Amino acid sequence: MTATASILLVEDHEGTRSQLSDALESSGYSVISAADGREALEALRARPVDLILSDYRMRPMDGLALLRAVRKTLEVPFVLYSAGADAQAVFEAGREGAVRFLEFPFRLADQLLPTIADSLGRRSGGTRDAPRAGAERLIGASAGMRHVRATIHRLAPTSTTVLIHGETGTGKELVARAIHEESGRDSFVSVSVPELSEGVLESELFGHTRGAFTGAVSSRPGLFEAASGGTLFLDEIGDTPLPVQVKLLRALETREIRPVGGSAARKVDVRIVAATNRDLAEMVRLGEFREDLFYRLRGATIHLPPLRARTGDVEAIAQMLLSEIAESARVPVPKLDPGFLAALAHCPWKGNVRELRAVLENVILWRDGDGPLERVDLIEAIVAMNPDLSPEDQLLAQKILDAYRRHGWNQEAARRELGLTRGEWRSRFVRLGLDAVRRRRR
Ligand SMILES: Nc1ncnc2c1ncn2[C@@H]1O[C@H](COP(=O)(O)OP(=O)(O)OP(=O)(O)O)[C@@H](O)[C@H]1O
Ligand SMILES: [Mg+2]
Repeated sequence: MTATASILLVEDHEGTRSQLSDALESSGYSVISAADGREALEALRARPVDLILSDYRMRPMDGLALLRAVRKTLEVPFVLYSAGADAQAVFEAGREGAVRFLEFPFRLADQLLPTIADSLGRRSGGTRDAPRAGAERLIGASAGMRHVRATIHRLAPTSTTVLIHGETGTGKELVARAIHEESGRDSFVSVSVPELSEGVLESELFGHTRGAFTGAVSSRPGLFEAASGGTLFLDEIGDTPLPVQVKLLRALETREIRPVGGSAARKVDVRIVAATNRDLAEMVRLGEFREDLFYRLRGATIHLPPLRARTGDVEAIAQMLLSEIAESARVPVPKLDPGFLAALAHCPWKGNVRELRAVLENVILWRDGDGPLERVDLIEAIVAMNPDLSPEDQLLAQKILDAYRRHGWNQEAARRELGLTRGEWRSRFVRLGLDAVRRRRR
């Protein structure tokens, strides 16, 4: 490939922006600059790029928010940089699948340029195993997952509207993409309903004519038209304001849309896939969701069971996630000891696969040495990421685990060192979520 690769540079400091832009251009890249996340999204709408290089600290939309917004629709390599390594940012970026994180200031020749070249190469490089596609991306041999895959195979080739229901992190978006991939339709366009206000949502979906509202200087097609011949994914459809629900229903029934400010209807060929983690039937009872739209949508519903209802799938999913995480962190894939696997299966995973991934990333990030992962490694990560624990509790948990480890997992010795009664030791274990830690198996 000899075509010039294009880079979208997002940096709010003007001086830094022009310096970086010049440097990249003289290294042979074509550069588009943006001063913040919003400008960047605008630029991406206008044309695709091969890589995004973004500052982390920017207002109003920081680099991480930009990354999240981009990841909803694009797989483009992303390099995030920040002055002063911000551990949380590095971690979050990894969780969102940022290709690389650089500490700013960086050296051009031996830090920035190699990172860019490498990120660009990784996307086109064909070193991976045959990639899974369509419903096969969904891992799990449980009856629930087998049923989900079979339903995807059956529905994909039709143009039926599909509703995907499941708790947060159960894989709703993955299912939507799988349906699209197996459908053979053109483009996949995704819109996250809660991120748009009512007025914006309507004109985003249906487009607007020139002069439809202040600022509508020219007419613009909406996402229905952008998705023509393809799939339109309406994520968190339960958040749609009632007036927009009316228009949505009409579009689903007539397969026609009317741009805001326009009177003429336009035919569209779009397959709708919608997702929600809410109980739409309950919302109908509360008058928050239109009953007619609900009936229209629920014809073909795919329900994704929570991870705790298919504990048999956890190990296979964890193995897949660990190899992905290890690959992007460039560390060997860790081995897992039986205690680790047992604890994995027993966690409640309220955030489902999304939480599992975040916890495993934390495990890999904080891991010492290269022995097999043990139960305590998992517990430490879960405790560290438990938003319900105060910082004092976090410290206390760490102190207990350290003492426990120091005493070779001898409860009595650790308890005495900390000066706790048996009752206190027990109740702290339960309260801090340490009760899944057992003696290390040898
Ligand atoms: N069965 C599965 N096999 C492999 N990966 C999965 C599976 N289920 C979910 N994942 C992965 O878990 C993560 C979360 O999935 P996804 O974003 O589709 O969930 P979601 O239901 O849309 O969550 P939310 O409601 O929070 O938006 C993704 O990285 C996805 O690829
Ligand atoms: Mg989702």
